[in-house]
Amino acid sequence: MNEQRIDTLLNAMTLEEQVSLLAGATFWTTAPVERLGIPALKVSDGPNGARGGGSLVGGVKAASFPVAISLASTWNTELVTQVGQALAQEARSKGAHVLLAPTVNLHRSTQNGRNFECYSEDPFLSARVCVAYIQGVQSQGVGATVKHYVGNESEFERMSISSDIDERALRELYLVPFEAAVKEARTWAVMCAYNKLNGTFASENRRLLTDILKREWGFDGVLMSDWFATHSTAESMNAGLDLEMPGPAKFRGQKLLEAVRAGQVRAEAIQDSARRVLRLLSRVGVFEHPAPVEEQAIDRPEHRALIRRAGAEGTVLLKNNGVLPLDPTRLKKIALIGPNARTAQIMGGGSAQVNAHYRVTPYEGLQARLGGSVVLGYETGCANHKLLPLLEKPLTAEYFNNRGLSGKGVPGAGLAQAEVMWFDEPAPGVNVDTFSARLSTRFTPDEDGVHHFGLVSAGLSRLFVDGRLLVDNWSAWKQGDTYFNNGSDEATGTLELQAGRAYDVTIEYATPAEGIRAVRVGVTRPLGDEHLERAARLAADCDVALVFVGHNGEWDTEAVDRPHMDLVGRQNELVSRVASANPNTVVVLQTGAPVTLPWLDKVAGVLQAWYPGQEAGNAIADVLLGAAEPSGRLPQTFPVRLEDNAAHGHYPGGNGRVRYGEGLFMGYRHHDTKNIAPLFPFGFGLSYTTFAYGNLRLSTESLAPGGTLTVTLEVTNTGARAGQEVVQLYVRDEKASLPRPEKELKGFLKVALEPGETKTVTLTLGMRALAYFDDARAAWVAEAGRFEVLVGSSSRDLHARATFSLQRDWVGSLETAQAAF
Ligand code: BGC
Repeated sequence: MNEQRIDTLLNAMTLEEQVSLLAGATFWTTAPVERLGIPALKVSDGPNGARGGGSLVGGVKAASFPVAISLASTWNTELVTQVGQALAQEARSKGAHVLLAPTVNLHRSTQNGRNFECYSEDPFLSARVCVAYIQGVQSQGVGATVKHYVGNESEFERMSISSDIDERALRELYLVPFEAAVKEARTWAVMCAYNKLNGTFASENRRLLTDILKREWGFDGVLMSDWFATHSTAESMNAGLDLEMPGPAKFRGQKLLEAVRAGQVRAEAIQDSARRVLRLLSRVGVFEHPAPVEEQAIDRPEHRALIRRAGAEGTVLLKNNGVLPLDPTRLKKIALIGPNARTAQIMGGGSAQVNAHYRVTPYEGLQARLGGSVVLGYETGCANHKLLPLLEKPLTAEYFNNRGLSGKGVPGAGLAQAEVMWFDEPAPGVNVDTFSARLSTRFTPDEDGVHHFGLVSAGLSRLFVDGRLLVDNWSAWKQGDTYFNNGSDEATGTLELQAGRAYDVTIEYATPAEGIRAVRVGVTRPLGDEHLERAARLAADCDVALVFVGHNGEWDTEAVDRPHMDLVGRQNELVSRVASANPNTVVVLQTGAPVTLPWLDKVAGVLQAWYPGQEAGNAIADVLLGAAEPSGRLPQTFPVRLEDNAAHGHYPGGNGRVRYGEGLFMGYRHHDTKNIAPLFPFGFGLSYTTFAYGNLRLSTESLAPGGTLTVTLEVTNTGARAGQEVVQLYVRDEKASLPRPEKELKGFLKVALEPGETKTVTLTLGMRALAYFDDARAAWVAEAGRFEVLVGSSSRDLHARATFSLQRDWVGSLETAQAAF
């Protein structure tokens, strides 16, 4: 549908109909206007899969892709585009027209709960990956929604905090990926952040929404609020927020109509936003295919292969004294140790969660590759959970149409495991807002001894074992960190149980007055010193010890930041014990952010595998055994200690405000300027082969303002294996009128090279690559004078450099300055 037809349709609509388009009708859809044949639009989370409209737990199955930090670690924009295309197919299979992704907030603090869901600390890398992702998604006719605009770098008090960011940091860092998403990838949707920016909620910040996004950058798509992040009627509308999500409307609908009638909102503003919604409907082809599509779980072989490849390519080899890749012909017995060895950590927590088609554990991945040729030993060693491991038992459910478990119960569908979120009527005739439930199962322990039971709920809950109340999360229920801060913290109880005996476990639940409705039961045997000892003994008895440590989606999750930067529980102790028992110890880390590695000197190898999606174990096995190259490079600096992180001292804020006091000097910019050696620098990652860099050639030594500089060099694979090098280009402004970072990433290319092969790499730099944002002039300025081009394998491993001069100042107006160059 062209613009003219959109306008014709718009003009045929009554004011009421136009207003009805500006708020969700349900949690995931907009309202149709049947009179005019305008269908509803359906959106779906999220960055690493398309969940569809169902529950966060146990919904329709979906393909689970590598999380954002893993994708960015590939530095492979073509691969990211392929992932975007596959995600669009996934969205289609869920009947969704718009994917609520990508998340492009920057890695400012290492403690951010959503670090895993964001690409990088560097705006240029984030921009390149985000553009590639959006182009992939939108090439399939599905809309992308770049989020969260802007300043959502932490989950601490995210619904109310004000991110106080000065203009230069905003323009040179935090806005850049959004700017690229709009100007280059032409994203069809943008989602506002929950937080305030400099004192005003992002969702009603006129400067951000109208002046910058729509006017300066020319955004012509739909700007939606984050879920429940609309706080006003007239203010948000006048600021430029097109769509309140989710529905039904809280601040729009009748209220918006009244605001228009009272002269608080102009009819033109309504029309402009309604036109944008119609344009989006047209872009995603819903006028041609208006019928809603039933959600399907399609497990495609080509998606499996893509996920496996991307997961492997995102792993970063942090240390290798020659032990990797493993040569199975020289190994008899391998120890697989650690809490993540037989648990597949495939994604982070929060709205990015999907119900994966399957999850391959590292143990399964290695077993599949090695067959019976090598003996695999296994020990857990210690735990790394935040909540007690889920009780994975089917439960029966009985529902009551009141909060007090009174009257006759209505049987509901059985539950596959002991976690449930209720979005719809739980059983016929039972109101989802005001019900209670009794869930029952039988639990037969494998071992004698003490067992811990845990209960988390959004709503009230209590747990009985053989009729005896063991966990009371009812009489003293308190709001905590779970379920997007709607749930309690975990309440626990301890009981001595006998192996082989069946116990009745009953959970009673009642809905809260409002918000999410959910309950989760965990159970475990405590792990103690003897488990660490058993792990060390196994390691001593094997040729190689692989230790799978890290976090999971309870630590790396939306809505909660991590309390520190260390591996949780006794994992550091476990690694040290194992490394003392076997010099060939390799640690496979799975975290969504940097962690401290106090045992680094003691181990032979470290591989950072992040959360690589449903093929996790296969991707990890591919890299460990050399079937795939670890060509990932860090998108975020690993500081030695938390205190070295740029945000330290300016995080998490207080009294409702967090000041980004480090300004421009975030990530490697901070480490460079303050001369603080990182543990692993930005851009770092080893390979199984080696590379040599030739000299740099610049297209000119004297660049005219407005011109483009071409940088050329040769890269050679000097090792015996095929491999991929990520050639990184940084720019240094030798002298500037305003403070600038020591150097900044402004180009990169991933090159695949056979042994002995040489390729020529060409990178170009435009004016934006040289410019800073002059907040006094409100313009981009590249100052005349000398610049240095630095090329290397990481921000601290630079192999070639050359200088050139910019002849005169270049000043780029806000509207014309290109996003990336
Ligand atoms: C998240 C968004 C997400 C939305 C819908 C919010 O809690 O911040 O990223 O798209 O929920 O699930």
